[in-house]
Amino acid sequence: MADPLSLVNDLLTPVFADIAGGPADPVVRPSDRADAQVNGALPLAKQLGTNPREIAQRVVDSGALAKVCSDVEIAGPGFINLTFDDSFLAAELAAIATGERLGISPDPHPRTVVVDYSAPNVAKEMHAGHLRTTVIGDALVRMLDFRGHTVIRENHIGDWGRPFGMLIEHLLDIGEDVAAEGMQQGDLDGFYKAANAKFADDEEFQARSRDRVVKLQAEDPETIALWQRLVEMSTAYFNQVYDKLGVLLVDDDLMGESKYQSLMPVVYERLEAAGLIEESDGAKVVFPPGFTNRDNEPLPLIVKSSAGAFMYATSDLACVLDRVERLGADQLLYVVGAPQAQHFQMVFAVAKMAGWLADGVEAVHVPFGSVLGDDRKMLRSRTGGAVKLVELLDEAVERAADAVAEKNPDLDVDARAEVARTIGIGAVKYADLSTDRIKDYVFDWDRMLAFDGNTAPYLQYAHARICSIFRRAEVDRNSVRSTAIALDEPQERVLAKRLLAYPSALDETVNTFSPHKLCTYLFDLAQEFTSFYEHCPVMKADEPVRTSRLALCDLTARTLEHGLGLLGITAPEAM
Ligand code: ARG
Repeated sequence: MADPLSLVNDLLTPVFADIAGGPADPVVRPSDRADAQVNGALPLAKQLGTNPREIAQRVVDSGALAKVCSDVEIAGPGFINLTFDDSFLAAELAAIATGERLGISPDPHPRTVVVDYSAPNVAKEMHAGHLRTTVIGDALVRMLDFRGHTVIRENHIGDWGRPFGMLIEHLLDIGEDVAAEGMQQGDLDGFYKAANAKFADDEEFQARSRDRVVKLQAEDPETIALWQRLVEMSTAYFNQVYDKLGVLLVDDDLMGESKYQSLMPVVYERLEAAGLIEESDGAKVVFPPGFTNRDNEPLPLIVKSSAGAFMYATSDLACVLDRVERLGADQLLYVVGAPQAQHFQMVFAVAKMAGWLADGVEAVHVPFGSVLGDDRKMLRSRTGGAVKLVELLDEAVERAADAVAEKNPDLDVDARAEVARTIGIGAVKYADLSTDRIKDYVFDWDRMLAFDGNTAPYLQYAHARICSIFRRAEVDRNSVRSTAIALDEPQERVLAKRLLAYPSALDETVNTFSPHKLCTYLFDLAQEFTSFYEHCPVMKADEPVRTSRLALCDLTARTLEHGLGLLGITAPEAM
């Protein structure tokens, strides 16, 4: 409940159904001229062949809105403008303030959702692209979880395949200790590149590597143990990065490609039994309808190569099978970059042909764009290589430390370090989450760390400022939560409406897997709070206005902290 717009929708749905003689959407929207607009009379009139103003009049006459509106006005061809009753808004706010969930009720239809995200590759560096999948995935997990869904995190790391032959041989050549040390310091690319270089011009190494792949596939115990060491070194490093980032991923979430090896023959057999396998250039493939190449020829999804090897697509088919049949998932999300869009569309299409994605099970690729540098090209380091994610994060914290030292020189050293971490990491995450994920964005230190504009520091600062109001007033925040709230000033009303819109903002965000919508909401909230705070004195006001305004402050701070929390960002109480 809580959100007045959805309440109006609930009140009017039966009225519209009555007039229409069947279901009809009242089309309730926010409005610039009033608090809300009901636009449904127009399409309904068209459908019934009557006059929209007449329908609007019947809606008004039904009296359904009497309890929640102080003014209801028909405008133009048949729009209905609504002004909410102040005491209705105040009562809704009071209901939120006393509860724990800020008006957000659990989803009445909880699902089991598997979220596939992060997924770096063993013995390869995490770079800016991994920032996106990790941060977006983490935010979606937190939101879905809060909505009461059962969320299963899966970190589909690249931990299997041909390169492991050469990686294991290289590991043997340099020794485990040297390898472990290099990887601990985050030099994963160095290891990979050295192995690759040897493979390129050392025939003996090539031969060893090929033998090693065969042994790996045959699960030779010694080879598996070496492989295991490589995976452990890499995941230990990934965990360091996750720790810095403050995301939820843990070892139990690891579900790499290796885990699906035994399922791949099953995938193949079941596709074959379903009569879907065809032969193409010696490979075993499935042709999902509607996919063609540049020359308009049908495009195959390769399940088994001509050499008899299973493919990346096969492992993703195995994933679908496992997630649906073993985990009982009814929604599969894949937070993976836009370049893999066709891969996923084809995998989903083949899974549907095979009957693995039945009705009621939804597979969604949640793609995202690239992180760009100043030059609008892929973000590069000064030396020209891909930027290491850890280095970005460390630099963010350093830069934030400078900003904090300047802004609040009184904070003690430990507090300052903690705040710098919170602001720096928050800034990087928020910059990523606040742009429509499908778009590319330019990585811009000054912008993301600015204390004004749509940034994490701005929102964190708004939150900390409210906390400091309570410290100065020496009022316990809990004590204002059952206060009656008065909405006499326009800024109070605007703020109240925004606070009540939190549930629908989250709904919109989750339904479209678009964290930037929640960011926009929080930014609007912080701005409206600022304007409230400028126009409506809090500390200097007389009672009961003072406590009423403190209650608005408290609810704003709670909503900011909670919303940032759902984005995986911490809101400190002082900064
Ligand atoms: N490791 C893969 C890569 O770096 C991403 C895996 C994404 N998840 C999946 N189920 N395919 O491209």
